[in-house]
Amino acid sequence: MLGSQPTAGDQDPTATPRRNPLRDATDRRLPRIAGPCGLVIFGVTGDLSRRKLMPAVYDLANRGLLPPGFGLTGFARREWGREDFARVVHDAVKEHARTPFRENVWEELVKGFRFVQGEFSDPQAFDRLASTVHELDTERGTGGNHAFYLSVPPGEFPEVCGQLARSGLSRSADGTWRRVVVEKPFGHDLASARELNRVVSEVFDPDSVFRIDHYLGKETVQNILALRFANALFEPLWNAGHVDHVQITMAEDIGIGSRAGYYDGIGAARDIIQNHLLQLLALTAMEEPVSFSAEALRAEKEKVLSAVRVPERLDLHTARGRYSGGWQGGRRVSGYVEEPGVPAGSTTETFAALRLDIETRRWDGVPFYLRAGKRLGRRVTEIALVFKRAPRLPFFASTESRDLGQNALVIRIQPDQGVTLRFGAKVPDTAMEVREVTMDFAYGHAFTQSSPEAYERLILDVLLGDPPLFPHQPEVELSWRILDPVISHWAASGAPEEYRPGTWGPASAAAMLARDGRTWRTP
Ligand code: BG6
Repeated sequence: MLGSQPTAGDQDPTATPRRNPLRDATDRRLPRIAGPCGLVIFGVTGDLSRRKLMPAVYDLANRGLLPPGFGLTGFARREWGREDFARVVHDAVKEHARTPFRENVWEELVKGFRFVQGEFSDPQAFDRLASTVHELDTERGTGGNHAFYLSVPPGEFPEVCGQLARSGLSRSADGTWRRVVVEKPFGHDLASARELNRVVSEVFDPDSVFRIDHYLGKETVQNILALRFANALFEPLWNAGHVDHVQITMAEDIGIGSRAGYYDGIGAARDIIQNHLLQLLALTAMEEPVSFSAEALRAEKEKVLSAVRVPERLDLHTARGRYSGGWQGGRRVSGYVEEPGVPAGSTTETFAALRLDIETRRWDGVPFYLRAGKRLGRRVTEIALVFKRAPRLPFFASTESRDLGQNALVIRIQPDQGVTLRFGAKVPDTAMEVREVTMDFAYGHAFTQSSPEAYERLILDVLLGDPPLFPHQPEVELSWRILDPVISHWAASGAPEEYRPGTWGPASAAAMLARDGRTWRTP
């Protein structure tokens, strides 16, 4: 009966749950297709655009999720024509797209390609861009709806935003939209993040600003919410009563390659911890949101980020390092300071680790250890909830419970996406020997469809105007509030400690956990 509420005594176990926070009024199981629109990419000649953005646009088209007249406009200094641009996109798609190349999809997509050559400082170039965008509206039916992707260093934002405002490109007529997409880093500290936000929000209103943290576009990251809030099994254990500590690791086996220009002066903490790892921490530690709306999610993430306490003794509870030259995977690799473009005397870290505590009832006394680094043992990102030890082992007096590892629930973000539960089991044919075993859920085994790339999901969400997977300015500021003291502490302590390629970071990282009586997992 409408409006009747079951009481504890008369609950029907087969009844539909009254509220599922992952499902709103719209059915989130259905594919979503963007309405008429176009995308303009600034910095179209860059690595991100070639490896991620262009292939993602093609993959979306291939999956039928873009509108028929979709427009893609590149803006760059390069003396290219429309054909040159199309050839670059073609090569990028052939090399990096996730889905197979289909001539008919490509032929249709390429009709919406445009290229505008110019400097960011040149008003005429932006006037040409405005004409191009209007042409797309009339020729392709993009309907006045356009997103501007700033795949350019943050130092260029003021100029590009200023030009978008001056040329009228940032203003939407009634019933149409204009959105801006900004890539991390969102500043290099709290003050610069605020300044960047001021610059962007002078031109675009907050609902039209989409900040990309591509980790939020990963399936396995979204699965953290499903795992926690669509199941009854895990949430009762998800607290200080059962969890001993949490380890969040983002390890890469590659070095910085040719990215010294971006990376030097930024380092692992700003590049990875400030955004990707603090977002993972927030999703792991937050309370259940009242819905899957952007407001509800942000509210919970902001609450938990505000409750993060940075250790007072930063010398004891943080570690940083940089990779030396050596051997990795059977070949000789350069040390960070020998990489092309790294200035002499650089003190940038390529490995960063820190302990954070969360001052809430749920997490009181449960440290969260975060680490990120390049040239480590292997490429892996994971969140491990390490559980408390069993209070006693009744089997035989001589077995210390310490001999057994701790139970762990590991959310494997990448590369082999899935969830692992580690626990002890009896070894067959022994009186009672307990050994660690794992129970595994692998995306590749459980589902037939492969996971979309993070950028596919995020670009589609921008075109749909769907904001839950984009960090909001207060989250960005809270993250800098956490990191600023750590970075200032390191800035005063000279060059980072070296670690050999292929290892798990500097000795100080192991020492940091050893002080707390713990060890890092070797994923
Ligand atoms: C980027 C960092 O945000 O993430 C890079 O700037 C890093 O330094 C990259 O290599 C890793 O992304 P992924 O998706 O391969 O884990």
